[in-house]
Amino acid sequence: MTYVVTDNCIRCKYMDCVEVCPVDCFFESETMLVIAPDACIDCGVCELECPAEAIKPDSEPGLEKWVAFAAEVAPHWPNITRKGEPPADAADWDGIPGKFQQVFGRSL
Ligand code: SF4
Ligand code: F3S
Repeated sequence: MTYVVTDNCIRCKYMDCVEVCPVDCFFESETMLVIAPDACIDCGVCELECPAEAIKPDSEPGLEKWVAFAAEVAPHWPNITRKGEPPADAADWDGIPGKFQQVFGRSL
């Protein structure tokens, strides 16, 4: 089991999640973060920190594609352990559906 970052992180990227992770398993792109599935110890504390409610346990149905995406990209993205400055327009993107398609130009 792992926790997983889902669509609503994209372009919100609040980063409140990274500082509470005891095993530093968040990895960063310009627009979103992922959790390395093989490093997450399922503590669940990050889920409570995300203002965008983008972090879910992978026990919820339909999240397999997000776990697979995280496993694919985490080795190629830099590790992040300190909260940075969220995008200035983060609030405008909060709750917009289908952000992955818009940002990455493909569906998951
Ligand atoms: Fe880190 Fe715990 Fe969140 Fe996993 S569930 S990413 S170990 S804070
Ligand atoms: Fe993303 Fe939420 Fe963390 S928006 S960067 S998963 S606090």
